[in-house]
Amino acid sequence: MSNLLPQEETSFVPGRENSREFRSALAQFPTGVTIVTCNSEIGPLGVTANSFTSISLDPALIMWCPTKSSKRYSAFMAANHFAVHVMPVEEKELCLSFSRSGQAFDDVDWHFSSKQVPLLDCSLARFECKRFADYDGGDHSLLLGLVEKASVFEGVPLTFSQGGFNTPEKEKERHLNAWRDADLTETYQTARNI
Ligand SMILES: Cc1cc2nc3c(=O)[nH]c(=O)nc-3n(C[C@H](O)[C@H](O)[C@H](O)COP(=O)(O)O)c2cc1C
Repeated sequence: MSNLLPQEETSFVPGRENSREFRSALAQFPTGVTIVTCNSEIGPLGVTANSFTSISLDPALIMWCPTKSSKRYSAFMAANHFAVHVMPVEEKELCLSFSRSGQAFDDVDWHFSSKQVPLLDCSLARFECKRFADYDGGDHSLLLGLVEKASVFEGVPLTFSQGGFNTPEKEKERHLNAWRDADLTETYQTARNI
């Protein structure tokens, strides 16, 4: 039995009528934040993505999932090479810019790789990839990349959960709330003599 305060449980079978609730349930899982870049017919393109995950060490494979509803979808699916940048906490605004526009390169220092992929100069880790495979995933595709070069830099990762970026200010507020809740829990436990 949990020692936490009792909570109301909401359960449902995911469907069209409760997609908002399903999204909220998924958003309880915290992720890192990346910016994925590639070159395209209209020039350098970028997109903010938190679907990035590691897949395999041997061969070195990573994955991210472009949404089929994005205007940038076909360009990313067509690219033979792309780069994934794991973003630091200071770059929340840049991540917002690349979620709004694929061409937010004016806001950042960047250069082309030897494969003509735009590389951002402000990441914590960068994975330069060759397209390896793609799979259908409902309203997204699963795009796997073979990592040809990995680079690591210092810093603190930006994270995303419950529909928002986790900044130091937000973390502080969360900790304060957690302390308040812990206090309430202690009162509750005392009341129950546990
Ligand atoms: C934190 C965050 C994570 C995101 N993750 C993804 C993702 O994994 N895949 C994706 O296709 N779009 C993701 N998006 C949305 C894109 O950044 C972009 O806004 C969306 O694809 C709309 O593109 P469009 O303007 O080209 O239509 C994410 C946005 C944010 C803010």
